[in-house]
Amino acid sequence: MTEPFYITTPIYYVNARPHLGHAYTTIVADVVSRFARMRKQETFFLTGTDEHGDKVVKAAKKENLSPREYVDKISGLFRSLWPELNIEYSAFIRTTDPAHMAVVEEVLQKIYDNDDIYFSEYEGMYCFGCERFYTEKELVDGKCPDHKTKPEIIKESNYFFRMSKYQDWLIDYIHKNPEFIRPERYKNEVLAFLREPLEDLCISRPKSRLKWGITLPFDENFVTYVWFDALLNYVSALGYPNGKLFSKFWPHVQHIVAKDILKPHGIYWPTMLKAAGIPLYHHLNVHGYWNVDHSKMSKSLGNVIEPIQMKNIYGLDTFRFFLMRDMVFGLDADFSEDAMVQRINSDLANDLGNLFSRVIAMVHKYFKGVVPDVDPAIEQELELGLQEKALSAVTEFEVNMESFAFHKALLAVWEFISQMNKYIDLTAPWMLAKQKSTRKQLEAVIYNLLEGLRIVSGLIWPVMPEKTRSMQKHLGLDPENKFYTLDLLRRWDVIKPGTVLPKGITLFPRIDTKKLMESRVNETEPERSDPGIKADITIEDLMKIDLRIATVLKAERIPRAKKLLKLEVDLGEKRTIVAGIAETYDPEELEGKQVIVVANLKPAKIMGIVSNGMLLAAVENGKCSVATSDQPMAPGTALQ
Ligand code: ME8
Ligand code: MG
Repeated sequence: MTEPFYITTPIYYVNARPHLGHAYTTIVADVVSRFARMRKQETFFLTGTDEHGDKVVKAAKKENLSPREYVDKISGLFRSLWPELNIEYSAFIRTTDPAHMAVVEEVLQKIYDNDDIYFSEYEGMYCFGCERFYTEKELVDGKCPDHKTKPEIIKESNYFFRMSKYQDWLIDYIHKNPEFIRPERYKNEVLAFLREPLEDLCISRPKSRLKWGITLPFDENFVTYVWFDALLNYVSALGYPNGKLFSKFWPHVQHIVAKDILKPHGIYWPTMLKAAGIPLYHHLNVHGYWNVDHSKMSKSLGNVIEPIQMKNIYGLDTFRFFLMRDMVFGLDADFSEDAMVQRINSDLANDLGNLFSRVIAMVHKYFKGVVPDVDPAIEQELELGLQEKALSAVTEFEVNMESFAFHKALLAVWEFISQMNKYIDLTAPWMLAKQKSTRKQLEAVIYNLLEGLRIVSGLIWPVMPEKTRSMQKHLGLDPENKFYTLDLLRRWDVIKPGTVLPKGITLFPRIDTKKLMESRVNETEPERSDPGIKADITIEDLMKIDLRIATVLKAERIPRAKKLLKLEVDLGEKRTIVAGIAETYDPEELEGKQVIVVANLKPAKIMGIVSNGMLLAAVENGKCSVATSDQPMAPGTALQ
């Protein structure tokens, strides 16, 4: 019996719509779970959504929805996207599921009873964006490296998990299990974190600050920290502690995450498991980021790649292939449609697509579409090491898939494809077809090619399941019969002589780059109605400017400066700004008004007053009009 297999993705935050990054991780999980099915392993594939916390409450407010309505909506977007990408998950967990919440309470209580959770006062620097405390060291220029904002000093009593107690144990465990976190660079990164003393983890938030969470079972005035809640999804989804799924699949668990959440998965999670008396996971598989045209993908840059759009333009399997082939798992990769088109045209349309139509065409031309019967002796003689090459391709594929080196696994398949192309050149079937005396040789060559293609069709299944189906249909195999299992891919006698093959198809239509470029130019360069406006700053330049909504708290005239007003504004914090708008505005009419401020301008002294920012206004013939917001917004809201 083969071992069961359990694979997880992160559960995604519901504060943003699903994009390329989420799609990549989830496609990887789909690919490895299909690979496990090629090995006839029973698999469980878990994905889901992370729905508690402050960020969600804020995002819901923005859309005028209750947190509950909001999480239902966005979670639904994720859930309905996955089948569109042919992702066959086994379960979709939500942290708002009552069964999940009960498990979180149970584990918290257990760790509390073991005295690994304690109550204490804490003062620290808190980033509201990350919903966590930062240490001085972790900050970059005193700011959160992720949100580029200054954390706020918060002093409050909270519950703490005695993570420090497990530091030495964890270091030791990682050394003894070198594949625990992989690829190696991330293991080293975790070990580097662990060279510093590990602090205990603050695992609660007072309800006065946050209500949208799971109440601590031992203190109803607090909810649990989102990571403590989120990580436990991996066990709650299996019905921990007594579920049948848990006992069957947990001993075989592997996680997939990107490097952004290495620390919670590489440090918090193993120590939590240890404290709760749950066996650790087998592997944490960590990948890098997809960047887009060399920049980070982000809403404000407007370069967010929508998976469905890619599917609609380029086709689903080809999109999946590009993601798996072009990213080295563990490293960052650059997404560009040009690179995707190149990859599709060369590897898919040229190499595999042409080979496939060529061979099928020969079956029709020389054998009226019927798979020839072969004389084993002649087949042996004419196989020229092709079987051996197929076997080693399968082995290399298997080894690399197992270690998440997908690009290498695919490379092995393409190496075999190129060997098949060479095989055609060597055996020259068109020559064999010219004489009756070489008919048997021709039969053998064609049969070998069909078997080779069958093996390729099976090997691409985890990445391109639909293409496997069409290839196998054209090889006369019933796709329902799972002709992708590795045991069948190690044989050379599966296609039955006498089978009638359907006429050829174009497996991978070439993508016409010229047409695509034309349509893209039309899309991205709308005609400018005013050629007088110069456009030469880049988006990076623009991103440097931090524009924020501010509410004017107080405005007053400045003696001896008839154009200037001194404004006290609230932009999340209080600021003084000097603005040259006194000839148009009376101080009273500004108070309470919302304005737009450049928040990261170097302070300047104007008439002895330090001005900390600049107010935006249009000026026409000496008359100004301040830029404002169309809707009341929270002070400090960034413009993007
Ligand atoms: O962190 N490239 O959720 P999240 C590659 N809720 N992968 C990317 C990516 C990119 N540019 N952007 C996002 C959370 N991802 C927590 C997880 S788990 C117990 C809780 C993928 O919505 C990648 O898998 O921020 C990354 O780790 C994940 O989305 C982060 O998702
Ligand atoms: Mg994130």
